[in-house]
Amino acid sequence: MLTKFEQIANCLAHPTPACLTQPVILAACAGAFVLAVLLAVPFGWRMAVRDGHASRRTFRKLARAAIDIVLTCAVVIVAFHYVRPDTLGGVERVPAWRILWQATIYALAIGGLVSGAAAGFGLGRLGARLSGAASRLGRLGVVIAIDGPAASGKGTLAKRIAEHYRVPCLDTGLLYRAVARDVLRAGRELSDTAAAIACARALNPATFDDPALRGASAGEAASVVARIPGVRAALLDYQRNFAQSPRGAVLDGRDIGTVVCPDAPVKIYVTATAEERARRRHGELEKRGENVRFEDVLDDIQRRDARDTGREVAPLWPAKDAVQLDTTHMTIDEAFKAALDIIEKRLAGATPPPAG
Ligand code: CDP
Repeated sequence: MLTKFEQIANCLAHPTPACLTQPVILAACAGAFVLAVLLAVPFGWRMAVRDGHASRRTFRKLARAAIDIVLTCAVVIVAFHYVRPDTLGGVERVPAWRILWQATIYALAIGGLVSGAAAGFGLGRLGARLSGAASRLGRLGVVIAIDGPAASGKGTLAKRIAEHYRVPCLDTGLLYRAVARDVLRAGRELSDTAAAIACARALNPATFDDPALRGASAGEAASVVARIPGVRAALLDYQRNFAQSPRGAVLDGRDIGTVVCPDAPVKIYVTATAEERARRRHGELEKRGENVRFEDVLDDIQRRDARDTGREVAPLWPAKDAVQLDTTHMTIDEAFKAALDIIEKRLAGATPPPAG
């Protein structure tokens, strides 16, 4: 008398028509199916949370593969039963039939496992969506535009929002800071239009993590090259390509809602009084070990505000459909919650864009 395990092993090694009717084999198949479902659930969940749209494509591919395999096998098995009923008994004896039968059964087993995986993946995806863990942003592939004056907290907000929705984030100020750095490194003046445009065209994103870009002087220098129309034009494609990520994206800067992504469905204009912004920036710079006077930071901020709002191309100005967020009396956490509230309402279509 064979043990259950031996029966399963035998059928795995030599699948015969009789195998399909043995309860232990049917139970083993059901067990393998359930296991495939359970193993695929976390993948579906994680991918829906991380990649939004891409998870739907993966689910469809899995489901289609499962249907293709199972349907093909079903056709072959039905043919065995109805078209040539006599062959079923003779499967063992005729090598060609035996090979065809065994190949069909193995394919059926694979098809069953793939459908289990598809079912599990779909369940994981559904769970992530229903629980709210899957980013609505990722599913919609939406761009969030965050603009505002220097040190208004937009960079910190943008990063937290991007982390929350698990979408990529671009601090566009870094691009202008990097152009200014490259111009100075090339030994040219910041006002040298041709040199600045050449540097903007040759910009290397791999250098954006240069700590020198974060300093106070880099911000000041950036606002000088940012006035040059050719520099802005040269940086536009890079920013727009970034915004086209199928998962959605968060971009922060001065002209995201007005020029770079005028169609972004969510636009937030972050403000705070100049004194409060100077206080925050002063604290940041002190933490970085830069020894600067508060009055100088305030001066720098006011000078940059004037330059950014007064320039001819892409001046700093809230887009007509932007929601303004004044963070003067808010902590970072409070500002983050307020921003999430704005985003969720916009995504749900609850607040129509404010008129002009
Ligand atoms: O962090 P902070 O707000 O001080 O500055 P930033 O965002 O790094 O930007 C530095 C400078 O780049 C700004 O003062 C602007 O003149 C310029 N900029 C711009 O013109 N357009 C953008 N989208 C981003 C920055």
